[in-house]
Amino acid sequence: MIYDCTVDDHSYIISGLVKNTKIGKYCSIATNVTIGADRHPTDWLSTHPFQYNDTDNFKPLKITTIGNDVWIGANVVIITGVSIGDGAIIGASSVVTRDIPPYAIVAGIPAKIIRYRFNENIINKLLKLKWWDSEYHFHHKNEIDFSNIEKAVEQIEMLKNKDKVA
Ligand SMILES: CC(C)(COP(=O)(O)OP(=O)(O)OC[C@H]1O[C@@H](n2cnc3c(N)ncnc32)[C@H](O)[C@@H]1OP(=O)(O)O)[C@@H](O)C(=O)NCCC(=O)NCCS
Repeated sequence: MIYDCTVDDHSYIISGLVKNTKIGKYCSIATNVTIGADRHPTDWLSTHPFQYNDTDNFKPLKITTIGNDVWIGANVVIITGVSIGDGAIIGASSVVTRDIPPYAIVAGIPAKIIRYRFNENIINKLLKLKWWDSEYHFHHKNEIDFSNIEKAVEQIEMLKNKDKVA
């Protein structure tokens, strides 16, 4: 079930509950994922919504943000209000309780960084390039070596610069 969400181009969700969440482009979201589910009060008489569902006394909703090119594995839970950076990977069955930086690979309960997808220099280039906002990777698919990150970044940068000059 997906509601009160924006899901940008080319992102897909196989199954789960996604609520009040902004999802960027090119995200791959696997099965049985829970993102942005309602919060309940932990220090009231009860945790049940009967206490506030017809008032403004408790705001159960907080926006959850998923960047671009994020891969979320099966059975992940992402706690409401968290931000997941561009390019991050969330390992299967993780519970994400804190913001995740761009291009981090995280896993576990609570999710911790196991490594980054690329070195700092490449990550900075990717965050500047924002390839997901252009169409070079579609229009020049055969000219880009997607499996070689250094080359791919360089090739997209060159295509972009060529367009600027033209
Ligand atoms: C997160 C993931 C991408 C990491 O892959 P990887 O970079 O090849 O990582 P490794 O397998 O080398 O594991 C590195 C360490 O993280 C741990 N780890 C990996 N995934 C984990 C997970 N989901 N939960 C807890 N720990 C995990 C490994 O046990 C290993 O720990 P160690 O160093 O103590 O031995 C992968 O494990 C994963 O969860 N993929 C998602 C699969 C999925 O849900 N697919 C759905 C279809 S789209």
